[in-house]
Amino acid sequence: MRRSPHRVPGLLLALLALAAQAPAQQRPALWPLPSSVQMFPQLLNIAPDKFLIVHGPNSTADPSCSLLQEAFRRPTVFGEHYEFTISKSSITDTPRFPHRGILIDTSRHYLPMKIILKTLDAMAFNKFNVLHWHIVDDQSFPYQSTTFPELSNKGSYSLSHVYTPSDVRKVLEYARFRGIRVIPEFDTPGHTESWGKGKEASNPNIQNFMEKKGFGNDFTRLESFYMKKILDIITSLKKRSIVWEEVFNDNVELQPGTVVEVWKGRDYLQKLKEVTSSGFPAILSAPWYLDIISYGQDWRGYYMVDPLKFDGGCGKVPWDDLEMKLNSLPLNHVNAGSELEKQLVIGGEACLWGEYVDGTNFIPRLWPRASAVGERLWSPENVTDLRDAYNRLAAHRCRMVSGGIKHSHRTIQHSQAALNFQVGPAVLLST
Ligand SMILES: *[C@@H]1O[C@H](CO)[C@@H](O)[C@H](O)[C@H]1NC(C)=O
Ligand SMILES: *[C@@H]1O[C@H](CO)[C@@H](O)[C@H](O)[C@H]1NC(C)=O
Repeated sequence: MRRSPHRVPGLLLALLALAAQAPAQQRPALWPLPSSVQMFPQLLNIAPDKFLIVHGPNSTADPSCSLLQEAFRRPTVFGEHYEFTISKSSITDTPRFPHRGILIDTSRHYLPMKIILKTLDAMAFNKFNVLHWHIVDDQSFPYQSTTFPELSNKGSYSLSHVYTPSDVRKVLEYARFRGIRVIPEFDTPGHTESWGKGKEASNPNIQNFMEKKGFGNDFTRLESFYMKKILDIITSLKKRSIVWEEVFNDNVELQPGTVVEVWKGRDYLQKLKEVTSSGFPAILSAPWYLDIISYGQDWRGYYMVDPLKFDGGCGKVPWDDLEMKLNSLPLNHVNAGSELEKQLVIGGEACLWGEYVDGTNFIPRLWPRASAVGERLWSPENVTDLRDAYNRLAAHRCRMVSGGIKHSHRTIQHSQAALNFQVGPAVLLST
């Protein structure tokens, strides 16, 4: 299933994430959910001639980890040329949300390694700190497992469309140097058609099992059983899980601390309220499905979303712009959430599902549209001025281009229509 609000959802899905152990409530969290953070109230003023960025003796990063350097570099434009200067800077900054993710999907279309690495570069430019790697699905199984090699031998598009263990290590390492945590997703129990090519399904066994358990033909009970079991296994490995919201909606018994990813439709604020008032941390992606393309500057719709606006009443529409209304605001009444509930919203993800993107158009489809999501997840909630954002985004786009991210012009130049037509649906719903 493609998690689009415009489609009928298929079976429940599970996102099994190797998330860190830090409790989600621990705030503020910087990169990437560290075990502890100490904040000091005093400001340090550093003289320009004494300013040097070095790595501590025990630092696991090396000098190629350039996050801080990037923060102080400002390009100055002279005609066609760029010059980088270290500006005298005073920066007081901290992210609003600890989880700022980009979802990539390497099953519908295989993404070449260089595109994944380029995506990590762009993420670092935009202060994203989580790569949610939807690595396998119905369409293909590119993950090469050393334990079950036949899964990718038979389930990948071809033997050259796989991610070898060394590719995966390279992605993890490249991400780590950019302050990005990689969360792999093995979608289950739906979306596993590609697995079946390497492992024949054992239907009679499953039917016997359901009989023995007294489930009759109720596959929902089978799924709930499966989900609970797999989530318990993950907990026993001292890992935490992230699940798509269906698992929560279907009342599967969840371990405390299981993160629920809210992705469905326009009533996402109400769903965030429900999830957090049940005590579970939540991630929002519903309004940030960047695979859904529209005309013009759709970044504004992403920008105007506020994940914490579940404060009673309806979403207010302060402007008359259909595109933004469609993208960013729920219509129905939303119950007000408490401060405690709002603290359980740990962030969000911009998702670029892979039906209509591959190595040829992935980067320009994602950037700079995702930059708007990046700012929403980083900046304080009162940073909402669209005109100001436009100017900064235009400058930021130049910075990214000069940094080698060749992306789309259309989102900040009004005149160009999308070049890619959707000729779907190319995807089977799983049942
Ligand atoms: C570096 O690690 C060593 C050994 O674990 C420890 O004794 C030392 O205090 C650490 N130094 C710093 C600056 O953290
Ligand atoms: C946001 O609020 C803070 C704290 O009240 C204030 O200092 C800052 O100027 C505000 N920023 C904007 C863009 O309104």
